[in-house]
Amino acid sequence: MRDAEPKAIHLADYRPPEWLVDKVELDFALHPSQTRVTARLALRRNPEGTTGAPVVLEGDGLTLVRLAIDGKPLVGPSFEATPARLTLAHPPADTFVLEVETLVDPTANTQLMGLYRTSGNYCTQCEPEGFRRITYYPDRPDVLSVFTTRIEADKAEAPILLGNGNLVESGDIPGTARHFAIWHDPWPKPSYLFALVGGKLAKVADSFVTASGRKVELGIYVEEGKEARAGYAMDALKRSMRWDEEAFGREYDLDVFNIVAVSDFNMGAMENKGLNVFNDKYVLATPETATDADYSGIEGVIAHEYFHNWTGNRITCRDWFQLCLKEGLTVFRDQEFSSDQRSRPVKRIADVRMLKAAQFTEDSGPLAHPVRPETYREINNFYTATVYEKGAEVVRMLKTLLGEDGFRKGMDLYFERHDGDAATIEDFVAAFADAAGRDLTQFALWYAQSGTPLLNVSGSYDKEAGTFRLDVTQSVPPTPGQGDKKPMLIPLALGLVGPDGRDMPLTLGNTPVEHGVIEVKEAAQSFLFTGLEARPVPSLNRGFSAPVNLVSDLTEADRVFLAAHDGDPFNRFDSLQRIALELLKTCARSGTLPAPDALITATGAVVADTALDAAFKAQALALPGESEVARELGSDVNPDAVYAARKALRIAVGTALAADFARTYESAGAGGAFAPDAASAGRRALRNLALDYLAVTGAAEGIARAKVQFEAADNMTDRFAALAVLAQHDVPEREAALDAFYRRFESDALVIDKWFVLQAQIASEGTLDRVKGLMLHPAFSLSNPNRVRSLIGAFAATNPTQFNRADGAGHAFVADTVLSLDGKNPQVAARLLASFKTFRQLEPVRRASAEAALRRVAQTPGLSADVSDIATRSLG
Ligand code: ARG
Ligand code: ZN
Repeated sequence: MRDAEPKAIHLADYRPPEWLVDKVELDFALHPSQTRVTARLALRRNPEGTTGAPVVLEGDGLTLVRLAIDGKPLVGPSFEATPARLTLAHPPADTFVLEVETLVDPTANTQLMGLYRTSGNYCTQCEPEGFRRITYYPDRPDVLSVFTTRIEADKAEAPILLGNGNLVESGDIPGTARHFAIWHDPWPKPSYLFALVGGKLAKVADSFVTASGRKVELGIYVEEGKEARAGYAMDALKRSMRWDEEAFGREYDLDVFNIVAVSDFNMGAMENKGLNVFNDKYVLATPETATDADYSGIEGVIAHEYFHNWTGNRITCRDWFQLCLKEGLTVFRDQEFSSDQRSRPVKRIADVRMLKAAQFTEDSGPLAHPVRPETYREINNFYTATVYEKGAEVVRMLKTLLGEDGFRKGMDLYFERHDGDAATIEDFVAAFADAAGRDLTQFALWYAQSGTPLLNVSGSYDKEAGTFRLDVTQSVPPTPGQGDKKPMLIPLALGLVGPDGRDMPLTLGNTPVEHGVIEVKEAAQSFLFTGLEARPVPSLNRGFSAPVNLVSDLTEADRVFLAAHDGDPFNRFDSLQRIALELLKTCARSGTLPAPDALITATGAVVADTALDAAFKAQALALPGESEVARELGSDVNPDAVYAARKALRIAVGTALAADFARTYESAGAGGAFAPDAASAGRRALRNLALDYLAVTGAAEGIARAKVQFEAADNMTDRFAALAVLAQHDVPEREAALDAFYRRFESDALVIDKWFVLQAQIASEGTLDRVKGLMLHPAFSLSNPNRVRSLIGAFAATNPTQFNRADGAGHAFVADTVLSLDGKNPQVAARLLASFKTFRQLEPVRRASAEAALRRVAQTPGLSADVSDIATRSLG
């Protein structure tokens, strides 16, 4: 725990570092509770710094053992050391070597930042500010240094010793039971990219030859006995390495690339140079234990961390305000990779679904912040959907605006100019502006203005003139700290669909619209399209070209038409979703579901369309989620009413199309051995969606079908989908299946996480007690982030009716859990507390209980910076 009231840090206050580190030599003597860290820092005064500035190094909870300057021991009062800071008020020279010895306790490290233990092994997590928990250091991303790491450990306890870069030496220490390894990383890097691992691990080995012929040894390290589960991750790694060469011209730059899978990890994974550390959830998979979603998650995260080698490591961030420089760009790159490996339209639909559920929601509440924030009190709280997912959307828009070639030229220029730098968003945008010869000042507002822009679009057709006028207005709603917004540059991809279902010419005046994208720049703007012999139906924001909320004057009939004919698959999907959303909103408000005939007809047409692939159909048939309906309602939301509306509509669709779903279920039959490829996954997704609709009423036949599938399944995707269907219904088959599932997978933590998730998501009154009971289950632990996220996180974030119980018990429970977790792991606690971010949209009773729970947390003495920051901003 840190200072009670952490100070706000502002982008505007950025100053270059006073001291640089040319070289670091680290020596670790690993020990469970007293690991000795010796750091030799070759310090050099920054010529761009302040004259006479002292050396100030960050620390966090450190115990200093010894200090020396150029080999001579240093004694007070020439320095001041606290757990949080080491200061040399009068440095002896402008360059010197500072030797610092500290002791750290990896076993006591429950926050999982710095050096900690997981399943007995040693590992590190340093981004963003964990290195200061290992040694005193200028722990900021703009201090780049060349690291050499010597690791020494008990040979029995830690036979494997891994560091960044290449292995230069290793061996036994004569006369002892210990051994050592020395790793050298030739690429200068900031401290947040440092990593080491020591322990008993099994290696899965492979190799890769880069485009220019460099042979790279690849290693994935897992717990002994889990080697067979790393095959898909290895395959994804090799595909990622090839793809980055082909798509971006980026080659790998070391002789080895290692990945270590650990079971205690705060986030998904970490891109440490040459030594990625992963949450094992994103490495381990077999058909029996992992779902198709898990496989695609592994592929995406492996790619993401690998791609960071260029976007993050070779070019890093000047300061943490620039986090999106590496994260938004790298998410964009991993999305593009998955699109190329799988189906582009289906990937886009899945990404937009996730963007709306996580980022639009964040952007519409008290935790809204710009893609590049301008102030923070705890940087760990800014690893958000806005920085990551909206950050990726901004890069995607750049590509849409500049075109394939312009975008690639801009990326090339960015790499050329900034390789080896700690860069800024200004640098990034300038590379594109210069490469394309285009002013991107207005575009850069996407980094600075928070909130989801609202586009209002209406069309009018003039038969006589053969013209179609599109009137567009835009506004950005006020968000915390930003009352007034400027108009944004919005790339709006569109088409005008003619009566025959084909695109009509897209011509503004006499000029054809290039790539089907118009640029909306002003608060109000009109576009006059010419040469149209019939009234078109506009297909707007094709491919979700801009992350905006779009309101248009399209009728339900227009949407039915687009759902059937739009040349843009995303908008076929989106048209169905829009029809459903309007029904759901009306029903949630009035308690009565309007006749869903149009939706049923349009859905039936999609099910029957043999030209559409199964994965697309599965996306198109899944109704918008409860959180999207709630966000669209905006205020006075009763989650029970939203749930009831969605259930009613599912029953209506499921009943009306029962025969189609039954046919789909039978014909998309399992058949053949499991393969995780996109086409097979799509068939399973569609079949399992059909199963869900067939069981939606809870009638015996549907439940029986789910039970049969649950028992007969030969893969986790089908087994889990059947279990998820059963879990929604209060039938004896539910408890029987949950028990059988537990017994079957008892020894497999990642599968038991799924078992926790499902139970936490049950939308019925008994769930809170069930969740409380499961916290006492031997498989549960508050110390393991995956367990906490599976049980409590899933309850708070994906069970709106029970988290927001009218009696306030759900809110109180999550607040209590946040408080008991905060002393252990502030980052995970803060993330859990962020589940309250939508509370202002709730109806008054639930809003009051959420607010009371947040206040109770906020007023608790001794909070971590992480939790106090979320509590304060949520209430702000
Ligand atoms: N850079 C990592 C990524 O690939 C995330 C690490 C964040 N870790 C943290 N403790 N906040 O996205
Ligand atoms: Zn990342």
